[in-house]
Amino acid sequence: MSIPKKDAVFDLALRPTEWADYIGQESVKSNLKILIEAAKGRNEPIDHILLYGPAGLGKTTLANLIAKKSGSQIRITSGPAIEKVGDLASILTGLAEGDILFIDEVHRLNKLVEEILYPAMENSVLDIIIGKGPSAKTIQLQLPRFTIIAATTKIGSISSPLRSRFGATYRLDFYTKEEIEKILERSAALLDVLAEKEALELISKVSRSTPRIANRILKRVRDYSQVNGSGMITKKLAKEALELMEIDEIGLERADIKLLETIIEKYSGGPVGLKTLAASTFEEEETIEDVHEPYLLQIGFLARTPQGRTATKKAYEHLGINFSEKTLTTKS
Ligand code: ADE
Repeated sequence: MSIPKKDAVFDLALRPTEWADYIGQESVKSNLKILIEAAKGRNEPIDHILLYGPAGLGKTTLANLIAKKSGSQIRITSGPAIEKVGDLASILTGLAEGDILFIDEVHRLNKLVEEILYPAMENSVLDIIIGKGPSAKTIQLQLPRFTIIAATTKIGSISSPLRSRFGATYRLDFYTKEEIEKILERSAALLDVLAEKEALELISKVSRSTPRIANRILKRVRDYSQVNGSGMITKKLAKEALELMEIDEIGLERADIKLLETIIEKYSGGPVGLKTLAASTFEEEETIEDVHEPYLLQIGFLARTPQGRTATKKAYEHLGINFSEKTLTTKS
């Protein structure tokens, strides 16, 4: 009996486990290689690392790769999953010497939990308060030496005491079209599917410069090609699949277009505040900030001002709306 090849299994399988397979982010990789080798040479755990940048650029993948290359066990959690001080205490006391604790979305860590983390990161100790009021006592528990790798999409929301406790901070950038093409070639081979080079170029073009999106689209295009063709991903089938998914020629989806149209049509191009925009588009503020905005800002369709979000001339042009009309409307 063959083992079912589920998408979730492939999501893990697509993650590179060797430096050579982790495409792009060259400066981050070079720095990390030195950090790991130097720590290994001293027989010490690596310093605490903070990774930041837009969603889907490979922060978790990189954390797993660091763990593999430093020969450490990795334990994965996230800011919102650690609700109470006790949750963090139980995670920390369960770590072994040299382990890595990966905390995703670290900007969502609650304040009390964060304060427990400071001495743990600095001196590998856990301060436990027993009792309440004047008779409360603190006992200190020695922890094994460990490494925190934290990831965030919002570096600005990390308090400076927390930020300063990381020995190395790296920013992941959007990928080039060529880098995404390489990632797609590798993923197609791992998915055991043949694809025309032009088809992968097309998928790369609509991937918003983001590996997670590129791999997700690749899998859906593979499905479409399997159902409507012989299984081989051709440029023609890829184009049809993208149309069916309502992804336009630069990778914008219905929700992105709606966001831009709302700013332009309801708010004369902006500026409009995030709360108002969320209410008008029926989207969560977080979804707008984490999913839609980063790429729209990157391609210069959106600008952020202290007064709110503004749609740029480029956005008007992409939507086929006359920009000079905006000037007339806002001036009148
Ligand atoms: N998946 C996520 N990030 C990746 C990268 N940089 N290279 C290859 N696959 C990836």
